Amino acid sequence: MLKYEEYKTLVENYIDSLKQNNEIPSLLLEAMLYSLSQKGKRLRAVLLLASYNLLNEDVENVVPYAVAIEMIHTYSLIHDDLPAMDNDTLRRGQPTNHIKYGEDVAILAGDGLLNYAFEIALEAAIKSLDSVNPLKAIKAIANAAGVTGMIAGQITDIKASSKDENKVTKISYIHEKKTASLIIGAISAGLILAKATEEQIKAGEIFGYNLGISFQIIDDILDIVGKEEELGKSIGKDIDDNKLTYTSIYGIEKSREQAKLLTNRACEEIKSHFPKSDFFVELANSMLDRVK
Ligand code: IPE
Ligand code: IPE
Ligand code: MG
Ligand code: MG
Ligand code: MG
Repeated sequence: MLKYEEYKTLVENYIDSLKQNNEIPSLLLEAMLYSLSQKGKRLRAVLLLASYNLLNEDVENVVPYAVAIEMIHTYSLIHDDLPAMDNDTLRRGQPTNHIKYGEDVAILAGDGLLNYAFEIALEAAIKSLDSVNPLKAIKAIANAAGVTGMIAGQITDIKASSKDENKVTKISYIHEKKTASLIIGAISAGLILAKATEEQIKAGEIFGYNLGISFQIIDDILDIVGKEEELGKSIGKDIDDNKLTYTSIYGIEKSREQAKLLTNRACEEIKSHFPKSDFFVELANSMLDRVK
């Protein structure tokens, strides 16, 4: 297994190489890379690479899939920040895409990243067509990001309010779909590419589910207690907009307890199925004390 930073570097080097593309209209590429190249944690991409690396050494070969999932995540952030959605002005420590380029370009930069993700992943799959696994991995990513996954979560999120009825059921649906889904998808894709067994994939998904919900609970907490300079995005918006968040129902202290409990569950699951689980246990725990 590599270190978190090493997986991240593999992803970043690939992203840097995209600057050379002279077939994409320059404004579109610039706007896409403006958001993609900025400082993100690269969590989903790293999870895909590390999941693959649990069972296989040649992690360089699956970097395109990791970049694809990072592109999908980045598109979701560009669209999430639009005035019609969360109306945010700061992302990854810089003005949001629409503040920098205007809404028209930002929408297309998001569309561009979503489509380009599948171009890159399918190109990699075509090169290894001796196996159906790359296609299954791409399907897992598409499902995770799609209309029963992340987009299902986002539509429920934008129409929810902290004053809603059925808050408890609704928040777990929102957290599972808008955030855990893509995290689960990253892990499944990595494991499918690595030709893992059904049982291993299931364990990876349970890890991802618990980590994903915990991750979004911490995101909700950071919107209250985070520092804008560290977090790289504006704080206090969830309360101002009456968003339905974990903290709006349970408060900060109970939310933290729940995040810890879910993280422990995630770690137990991964430990009991993979001997080389240290990377995942450390990663999950580090996400509890993150400041960004
Ligand atoms: C932000 O994701 C959106 C959520 C699903 C909470 P991250 O916190 O992973 O953002 P980056 O990629 O590090 O910018
Ligand atoms: C967004 O959740 C999840 C996505 C799928 C983009 P949030 O709206 O809470 O994410 P931030 O706080 O803007 O990063
Ligand atoms: Mg949102
Ligand atoms: Mg948002
Ligand atoms: Mg948030």
